[in-house]
Amino acid sequence: MLRKALLAAAASERVRGLLTGAPTASSVVGRYVAGESIQDALAVARALRSDGLLVSLDYLGEDSIDAQRAAATAAQYVHLLGRLAAEGLSDGGAVEVSIKLSAIGLLLSSPGGTGSPNGELTSRMGGSRPPSPLAPVPPEGMPDGEAKISDMQGAEGTAGSSTLGERIATEHLERIVVAARDAGTTVTVDAEDHTSTDATLRIATALRERFGSVGSVVQAALRRTEGDVRELAAPGVRVRLCKGAYAEPLAEAFTARHDIDRSFARCLRTLMAGSGYPMIATHDPRLIAITRSLGLGRSPDSFEYQMLRGVRPVEQRRLAASGARVRVYVPYGGDWYRYLVRRLAERPANLALFLRSQLSPG
Ligand code: FDA
Repeated sequence: MLRKALLAAAASERVRGLLTGAPTASSVVGRYVAGESIQDALAVARALRSDGLLVSLDYLGEDSIDAQRAAATAAQYVHLLGRLAAEGLSDGGAVEVSIKLSAIGLLLSSPGGTGSPNGELTSRMGGSRPPSPLAPVPPEGMPDGEAKISDMQGAEGTAGSSTLGERIATEHLERIVVAARDAGTTVTVDAEDHTSTDATLRIATALRERFGSVGSVVQAALRRTEGDVRELAAPGVRVRLCKGAYAEPLAEAFTARHDIDRSFARCLRTLMAGSGYPMIATHDPRLIAITRSLGLGRSPDSFEYQMLRGVRPVEQRRLAASGARVRVYVPYGGDWYRYLVRRLAERPANLALFLRSQLSPG
């Protein structure tokens, strides 16, 4: 309940201004986010690799309702993958990338690309949202919006706006997946709110059939997920299981903590008994313990734990030292506001600490 209220409050422009303009914002952001540039992301990835941890880099930015911005985000990923390959960081999938399809056009509803903020967008944050002042810039050496969406001009789509958005996101994702393949690594498609689950799973599945290494993410909070997991627990399929970070309606999702945890445990059992590659994304000690015991029946390199940068770093290293594969999810980029809010909402104590530091900065 508190989490839902926090997510809704964070949609207010006033709260946004307070949080982003706060004098200690950068130190709080720095706990969870690598920094704003590719150089920052690479430095954090290098440090984690030297500690024996695997990495997934996420370029922050979601809900792009501007075609140029979506193209620039895709170009940023392609450029990042080139840099990872040049440094040998991506070899064998040691450093991979995670991506939200809304950042590369899934929500575009008009060929001109500005789309219309609709119910889907507002439901993500509980209110309307102007374009971010921190829009991604194309990486050095890359032309702005260089990506060519072959049929964007004049495309109308036969099944409404989602068809155009899906086509655009699919084309961008394919470029990223090809760049990842060339770099010897993988792409994982993040899960967003329930309104995009069908399209997200559909796109990832279609590209996985052609390129193999595309991972999907499922959220234990969603009632549908047990069914999705049964389909995804198939040979070679990389599936990240997480609790789910979005405020969802009761009809679609479990909202009580223990119901979400029980759903997580059921999905976990299915994934660990299946023949895919489970990626267990949680910091919850009880769920980590269940994973460990289910993992005894599998080889240690047939599944991995995943945690977020800034959350339980000691546990990350402890698990890795025990011989487990542990991947740290590392976001970077200027558009960090909503990512930070989701992290603060997961742990209201963090938010309280942050707000207290603003009231008495001395
Ligand atoms: P829970 O929230 O119950 O936390 C368990 C314990 O972990 C807490 O008691 C605390 O000790 C610690 N902890 C958790 N969050 C913390 C925080 N922010 N700060 C400090 N301590 C914290 N979601 C989604 O909807 N789509 C996605 O694609 C992804 N992707 C993803 C990747 C990876 C690698 C991870 C780890 C998580 C995600 N998530 C996600 C987020 C996920 O859905 C969930 O919101 C968070 O992981 C928090 O849930 P826990 O399972 O950690 O449990």
